Amino acid sequence: MIHPIGILLSGRGSNFLAIAAAVERGEIPARIACVLSDRADAQGLVRAREMGLDARFVDPSGRKRADYEEELIGILEGHGVELICLAGYMRILGKRLIGRYRGRILNIHPSLLPSFPGLEAQRQALEYGVRVSGCTVHFVDEGMDTGPIVAQTAVPVLPEDDVADLSARILEQEHLLYSEAIQRVLSGSVTVEGRRVRIG
Ligand code: GRF
Repeated sequence: MIHPIGILLSGRGSNFLAIAAAVERGEIPARIACVLSDRADAQGLVRAREMGLDARFVDPSGRKRADYEEELIGILEGHGVELICLAGYMRILGKRLIGRYRGRILNIHPSLLPSFPGLEAQRQALEYGVRVSGCTVHFVDEGMDTGPIVAQTAVPVLPEDDVADLSARILEQEHLLYSEAIQRVLSGSVTVEGRRVRIG
């Protein structure tokens, strides 16, 4: 069965492109129904348009978050979206969107959560001095990068690393991990019990 998924992004969109490539290769039982951005100039939005997808800028400015999210929900529901994938979406989700799609929103974060949530996770990891970092795919709840964890990949932090080096090493793994996690969630092999996610 092919499941409609929606992508929310704010920037470059490399995770979106990796997901799109995995869909194209038939590795994920999904089609990308829409790509929505809170930034008109997001590179990911431009690429989505070039790919012929329904790619829309939804302007959050000058209105209540609930109204903004209702507009997103309208588009997502219009497409029958079953799973929302946040891919570099730089906004905290509000009650409206989380309530409507509870347990059906994934995010990818560039650290091994619960370490280094929030912005600049790679810089946080370097400044803390950890020897290992990585990336995490998790369900989204009301907190900041706090939802149940679906999958993680670790990468080494090398002594000579700067933020760009570590970010690149993590990003390579993000592109693999996110598609695998989406595939598992869509194939129905994932169940959530409290904080623990069971696969298979
Ligand atoms: C990634 O590092 C992701 O983990 C984080 O934001 C970044 C988005 O990169 N949430 P891209 O837009 O997918 O290239």
